[in-house]
Amino acid sequence: MRVVSGIQPTGNLHLGNYLGAIKKWVAMQDEMECLFFLADLHAITVYNEPLALANNTREMAAALVACGVDPERAVLFNQARVPAHAELAWLLFCTARMGWLNRMTQFKEKSGKNREGASVGLYAYPVLQAADVLIYGATHVPVGEDQKQHLELARDIATKFNSDFDTELFTLPDPIIEGPATRVMSLRDGSAKMSKSDPSDMSRINLTDDDDTITKKVKKAKTDPEPLPDSLEALEERPEAANLVGMMAALSDRTPEDVLADFAGQGFGAFKPALAEVMVETLRPIRERFVALKSDPAAIDAILQQGSEKARALAAPTVAGAYRALGL
Ligand code: ADP
Ligand code: NA
Repeated sequence: MRVVSGIQPTGNLHLGNYLGAIKKWVAMQDEMECLFFLADLHAITVYNEPLALANNTREMAAALVACGVDPERAVLFNQARVPAHAELAWLLFCTARMGWLNRMTQFKEKSGKNREGASVGLYAYPVLQAADVLIYGATHVPVGEDQKQHLELARDIATKFNSDFDTELFTLPDPIIEGPATRVMSLRDGSAKMSKSDPSDMSRINLTDDDDTITKKVKKAKTDPEPLPDSLEALEERPEAANLVGMMAALSDRTPEDVLADFAGQGFGAFKPALAEVMVETLRPIRERFVALKSDPAAIDAILQQGSEKARALAAPTVAGAYRALGL
C-alpha cells in the first residue's frame, strides 16, 4: 500500500487542525508507506500573499513534524519543490475532458457567483490532484466526502491515458474513505468551527498556547449548567457539551461513549479540569517541538529538501514513462 495525501499550508494552527487533519497522518505512517505533501501549488489557485505563503508552508511543515509526522519514515515535502507535479499535470490536462471538469461540484462552490473571475488553476486543480497521486503510483488516497468526486476523476484520467496510449503506466488509486471527520468547534460557540479566522482568541486553542492559557481557555469555554448525560443522544442537543466531550475523546483516543461512561452525572466543574489536563499534557510536547522548529527555518527547509529529493526520485520514472507513451 502506498498512500499519497496533501494538505494546504495554513498558518496560526490550532487544535482543530491537529485533531481534524494532522493526527490522521501521524496514525497512517505506522500502517503504510506514506507520501505527505504541502499543497502549495494548490494554494496559489487563489491569491496568496507570497511571503505569507512561504511562512505558512514552513509553519505547516513544522507543525506536522512537531505533531509526530516522522520525515525518516514518511516522505514529507512541498509540491512546488517537485516539478514533476506541474509537469505531469500538463500532460494530464490533455487527457482530461472539459465535460469531466465541468461536472466538478467543488469548482461551482469555490468560484461562487464569480466563475468568470476564477483562475484557470482553480478550475483545473482536480487535474493537478490527479497528477499528485498518479505520479507516485499511489494505491490508496484518503478522501473526505467532498473529495470523492476528484478521486473518481483521477481514476478516469488514468484509465483514459492508459487506454489511449496503450500502457499500464498509471495505477488506479482506491479511496480510503475517512470516517466522520473530527470536527472541533469553537470554545465560544458550539455551532461554529474552531478556526484561525475567528476574531476571538478565546474561541480556539492555538498550538502555541502555553499550559496556563490552555487551562484558562478550557475553564472559560461556554457550557450549560447540566451535568453530563450517560448517552450520546442526550448530548446531541447540547453542542457545547458535545464539543468538549468530543475533544476529550479525540485527545485520549477514546470514543465519546467511553468518555461519557467516565463522566456521566458530573458537572463541568469536574469535567473541565480533567479535559484541560489531557489537553495540556498532549499539547505540551507538541508545542515545545513546534516552537523550536518554527524558530529554525533552516532546519525545516532541510527536512523539506530531503523529502523533495526522495519524492523527485520516486516521481521521475512515471514522468519519463508518460513522455515516452505520448511520443515526446
Ligand atoms: P481554518 O478553518 O482555521 O482556516 P484551514 O481551513 O486552514 O483551517 O484547515 C486546514 C486543515 O485543518 C483542513 O484539513 C481542515 O479540514 C482542518 N481543520 C480546520 N479547522 C478544523 C476544525 N475546527 N475541526 C477539524 N478540522 C479542522
Ligand atoms: Na478555512
